[in-house]
Amino acid sequence: MSLEKPIGPEAILEKKKKYIMPCLAHFYKEPKQFVKGEMQYLFDSTGKKYLDCFAGVSVINCGHCNPEINAKVVQQVQSLQHVCNTYLTENFVNLAEKLAEVTPGDLQKTFFCSTGTEANEGAMLLASIYTGKDEFIALRNGLHGRTKLTMSVTGIQMWRTDPHPCGGIHFAPNAYCYRCPLGKKYPECDLACANALEDIIKTSTSGQPAALIAEPIQGNAGIITPPKGYFKRVKEILEKYNALLIIDEVQTGFGRTGKMFAIENFDVVPDIMTMAKALGNGAPISAFTASAKIADTYTKPGASTLGGNPVSSMAGLGVLQYIQEHNLRENALARGQQLYDGLVDLQKKYPIIGDIRGIGLMRGAEFVHPDKSPAAEELDKVLEEMKNRGFIIGKNGVGRNVMAFQPPLVITEEDINNVLNTLDDVMGEVL
Ligand SMILES: Cc1ncc(COP(=O)(O)O)c(C=O)c1O
Repeated sequence: MSLEKPIGPEAILEKKKKYIMPCLAHFYKEPKQFVKGEMQYLFDSTGKKYLDCFAGVSVINCGHCNPEINAKVVQQVQSLQHVCNTYLTENFVNLAEKLAEVTPGDLQKTFFCSTGTEANEGAMLLASIYTGKDEFIALRNGLHGRTKLTMSVTGIQMWRTDPHPCGGIHFAPNAYCYRCPLGKKYPECDLACANALEDIIKTSTSGQPAALIAEPIQGNAGIITPPKGYFKRVKEILEKYNALLIIDEVQTGFGRTGKMFAIENFDVVPDIMTMAKALGNGAPISAFTASAKIADTYTKPGASTLGGNPVSSMAGLGVLQYIQEHNLRENALARGQQLYDGLVDLQKKYPIIGDIRGIGLMRGAEFVHPDKSPAAEELDKVLEEMKNRGFIIGKNGVGRNVMAFQPPLVITEEDINNVLNTLDDVMGEVL
């Protein structure tokens, strides 16, 4: 691409229609061509500036084209790009050592790959190797990837494209308190959704599942945030049946919730943790990490050509250093609270906002009609106009009716005030 002469959105849409498989949808009625990123800001082909409140789905935690991280990556690109990880290079072992430091509990040994899907597929393989079992439990409305197995443990109809998903997979109710799948209310429910896991193990499995896979906060499902205590109860039940807990931190990891990993908000140490997206801040890298006891059972040959590539691993090292040196976790908490408070004020004015949830800078506002049915079209109108006014905000939710804020963690107080004020104007005008 010529940076001076971008081809523009119409030409991209034409080529996309002709040369890209139609499963890949695009967002917005009038999409823009993005040509440049600078920390929390994006620029389109006309030079218009946007505040990015979605970070490419929780990827750009350290900001677009972060100069400190990119300086390291560029230096690496210019010295050694790739030899395959069956030869010795040093970045991937240094990154694995750092991950052992920043992941909770006894998580210690890592396998590197390139996408979140691959990390989850690998984590489930490791769970099967360690336990000698092959049944899995997943949460309704979870999303874990696009391969046969990861799609089969995905609990959102829209992303279950495979007409013949794998067998041996069972779904437990998710902790969606705003629309409790069991029709109960927290805290009187005594975590009935977590307790249901035991019934599912007893009645729907052989009684010996390998593992449960879950996102600590379900991103694609609409920032579904379980109550405190949920994962502790889940872990207790799994331990009773010698089943592992695989926590998918692909969307939630690397400072977004004010902790390095979202599961730390629930005081639980998973048996296997998967990560991707923000680990590379735009570089393709993913990983799964386990305790030595579990990891050391993975002894048959396993390698990913690009996994632990010197360039991607250097990006990962840069990301961890940047998060720590620039206090991104603290900023995620402070700005996340500011955003939450502002959304609560907007909710008082606009009852179409039915629920606000999340932790830190992973926040969702669910748009509903007075009868609580999803107000997806109204949300689309708001998001389109926010884009026209220079704000990129995400959308997720099973009903595609959740406004999703997952911005770069470098976002400022002024940025949050700007997005809230503009949201107030736009909602007043378009709804
Ligand atoms: C929670 C979660 N897990 C896994 C994936 C799959 O990751 P990837 O698209 O990198 O394969 C995603 C993608 O959005 C995700 O949000």
